Amino acid sequence: MKQKKPKNDRALRFYNQVLGLDHLHYGIWNEDDELTIANLKIAQQRYEDLIVDAIPDGVTTILDVGCGTGELSKRLANAGYQVEGLSPDINQKDLYSIKTNGRPFHFYRFEEFKPTLRYDCIIMSESGQYIPIEMLFTTAALVLNPGGFLINIDYFVLDNADGVLGKSGHNLNRYISEADNNNFTMIIDNDITAKIVKTLDFSKQLVERGFIAFDIATEKFRYKHPIITKIINYLIRRKKQKINDEMILLNSKKFTEVKKYILFMFQFQNKT
Ligand SMILES: C[S@@+](CC[C@H](N)C(=O)[O-])C[C@H]1O[C@@H](n2cnc3c(N)ncnc32)[C@H](O)[C@@H]1O
Repeated sequence: MKQKKPKNDRALRFYNQVLGLDHLHYGIWNEDDELTIANLKIAQQRYEDLIVDAIPDGVTTILDVGCGTGELSKRLANAGYQVEGLSPDINQKDLYSIKTNGRPFHFYRFEEFKPTLRYDCIIMSESGQYIPIEMLFTTAALVLNPGGFLINIDYFVLDNADGVLGKSGHNLNRYISEADNNNFTMIIDNDITAKIVKTLDFSKQLVERGFIAFDIATEKFRYKHPIITKIINYLIRRKKQKINDEMILLNSKKFTEVKKYILFMFQFQNKT
């Protein structure tokens, strides 16, 4: 298969370099947590704890797929695991090496990865949704030792989802049947939707405040140059409409109607 262009994900750089987040995933919130960046960081730590606690005894080698900033790998390496990272994002390549003190990094999309060794466990923390569903388990089967584990924590789309809400995330039923068809037996199915949705409320608040800040910053210009403002508004009208339409992605009520956020663990049994 032809190697695709490396990714350079600006949204992830924003979370990391602007918001100062080490984790690029949702968080697990307490009911009474206020929507603050400090609480988001604590919530993301709880999410990471959930993953680490799920790793079965006896696992020594781990492939951290879509390893982001390398934060989870750093923790796993410190805990004594032989961890390696994989990501198609050029910015994450150097970061990973610094974070993990030079642990091996594979600069690939998972679906294009040709492993030279097999691992006891694969972890996909909010990265599985980017891997084409028909390649996810077939590639995982090439990467894992027989009896190895796949931990995938992510959101999944229900059959009733439509519009922009239905566009990101794998269809839950399709995902489960692909796992079954490829000899992956489900061991953990932990629905954490109710605990993660505050991440959306926090993001929505952040975006709305960004709009207000933009409004304040441009107020003088708009007052002084009404005609130019009209022209600019006309030129960017489609972009504005798209942003408005996509605000539904941050609506936590809608999210719970059409998506589920789940920690899955599967065990791979090679039956051939
Ligand atoms: C939302 S971030 C999650 C990062 C990290 N796992 C975490 O939990 O903080 C998604 C990650 O998936 C990676 N990714 C995107 N497409 C991928 C693919 N086809 N194969 C492997 N990783 C991919 C991105 O580069 C990024 O590292």
